[in-house]
Amino acid sequence: MKRIGVLTSGGDAPGMNAAIRAVVRLGIERGWETFGVRNGFAGLMAGSFVQLGARDVGGVIQRPGTLLGSSRAPDFETVDGQDRALEWLARKRLDALVVIGGNGSQAGAHALSGRGFPVVGLASTIDNDVHGAEMAIGVDTALNIALEAIDRLRATAASHHRAFLVEVMGRECGYLALMAGIAGGAEVVLVPEVEVAPGDVAAEIRAMYERGKGHAIVVAAEGVRGGCAALAPKLAEAEIGFALRTTILGHVQRGGTPGVFDRLLGTRLGTAAVQHIAAGMTGILLGLEGGAIIPTPLGEVVARRRELDPALLDLARVLAR
Ligand code: F6P
Repeated sequence: MKRIGVLTSGGDAPGMNAAIRAVVRLGIERGWETFGVRNGFAGLMAGSFVQLGARDVGGVIQRPGTLLGSSRAPDFETVDGQDRALEWLARKRLDALVVIGGNGSQAGAHALSGRGFPVVGLASTIDNDVHGAEMAIGVDTALNIALEAIDRLRATAASHHRAFLVEVMGRECGYLALMAGIAGGAEVVLVPEVEVAPGDVAAEIRAMYERGKGHAIVVAAEGVRGGCAALAPKLAEAEIGFALRTTILGHVQRGGTPGVFDRLLGTRLGTAAVQHIAAGMTGILLGLEGGAIIPTPLGEVVARRRELDPALLDLARVLAR
C-alpha cells in the first residue's frame, strides 16, 4: 500500500481535473491512499493536504481549472522552501508525488527529485513548451478557444475591411500563435522565436491590401517583443491600408471546458503516473510523444524547451498569399 500526493501548479490548464481524477481512482484500484495538495507548491510548503476518495473526484472531468487550486510559488526555488515541503511530505508519510504543470512546475518537481523524493511530472500548460511532450494537457482546448475568437474576429474584420491584431498567450513560446494562426487562416503570424521588425510586418500587410485582400488577421504571441501594445501603434501609423483594431485574448484561453483531447490526455497521463510510481519509475516527466505516453528524465526536461517547427512557420507564410 502506498500513500501518494498530487498537486497542480503554475497556470491552470483544461484537463488537469481529468488527470487528478485518474491518479486518485487508479490509486484506489491498487489500494493506495491519495492526498491532494492545495494550491500547488505554496500548499506543499504550508502542509495543506486533503485526502481524496473516489467521490471527491466525481463530476470533475468536464470542469475547467483545477479542483486543487494552483499558484506561482517563487519561495519553492529556495532551499528553505524545499526543506519545508520535504518535512511535510515526511510528516504525511507520502511515498511519491505527482506534479501536474508546465516548465516552472517541473523545475520544482526536479528540485524535489534531486533531494531524493520520488516525483512523477505530468506535462500540463497551454503554452506547449515542455520538452518531452508534443502536446501538453490544456493545449488543445486553449487552441480551440483562440481559434473560435479568430473566426469571430475575421467575420467582423471582413465586414468592415479592417485588420485585426490578435494577441494570444504562450509566454516565450509561439506555439499557440502559430497553430491558431494556421488553423484560423491568419494573414500574418508573429512568434517570439523569430524577430520581425514592425516596419516589415506593416509592409507585408500593406502588400496584401494592394493585392486585393479585403481584410487581414495578424496573430501575435504575447512573447513578441513589446507585445501588441507596442506593435499596434507602429502598425497604425505605417498606413497598412486597413483600419486596425486590437484584441488581447488573455486568460480567456485558459478557462475553457476541456475538450475530448484534453480529457483523454489528462486521463492517460494520470493513469500512467500511477503505473510508473508502482513500477518504481520516478524522477521523470510523462508526456505524449508520437501518440504514446513517454517518460523523460526531469533533468533533461528542465534543461530544454520544446522548439517550434520552422517548417510550420514557413507554411503559415506561404498559406497567407
Ligand atoms: O503559462 C501559462 C500562461 O497562461 C502563459 O501563457 C501566460 O504568459 C501566463 O501563464 C500568465 O500567467 P498568470 O496567470 O500568472 O498571469
